[in-house]
Amino acid sequence: MPLKIALFASGSGSNAENILQYFSQNDKFIFPLIISNKANAFVHERARKLNVPSYTFSREDFSDGEAIVRLLKQQQIDCIVLAGFLLKVPLALINAYPNKIINIHPALLPKFGGKGMYGHHVHDAVAAAGETESGITIHYVNSNYDEGSIIFQAKCPVLPTDTPDMIAEKVHALEYEYFPKVIEDLWG
Ligand code: GAR
Repeated sequence: MPLKIALFASGSGSNAENILQYFSQNDKFIFPLIISNKANAFVHERARKLNVPSYTFSREDFSDGEAIVRLLKQQQIDCIVLAGFLLKVPLALINAYPNKIINIHPALLPKFGGKGMYGHHVHDAVAAAGETESGITIHYVNSNYDEGSIIFQAKCPVLPTDTPDMIAEKVHALEYEYFPKVIEDLWG
């Protein structure tokens, strides 16, 4: 039986696309749908191009969680991957999928995590703090932002001359390289 994974994404969706491309020839993993909290997020374009149905749920649906759990159960989803998903995951979802939800964070947690720390805010903070390294953290999701147990981290150097955009580029490269492999190792 292939493992059915739902992808959640709020914005561009480049990680979601990278994961779909990586597993496109692997019939042990299937990705029946993408869920977003933004109707105009670019991830929907990517989903259309790759023939993956994508759905948008409102902020209210996300804080309640029941409608999302219903859809996921209907589609017999086994696991959830947050690939650039920026809202808090509702308790209903965490309870329905215990230890089956993972997230990628674009920094070395526990540093630069928590509410409001997403996307470019993270890279701005890393540059402002004069860090000499950054990286990615892949972790289980629990009811607190960025606090679930860590599955994997990878690092990149940050130079004093690096802008937040330059840090973002290095971090994205790590995400594309490692996120699909970590999913494969974890659930393969
Ligand atoms: C990624 O860098 C991901 O790590 C980050 O959002 C970006 C989404 O890019 N996630 C968070 O900040 C979660 N706190 P993408 O939409 O191009 O994949």
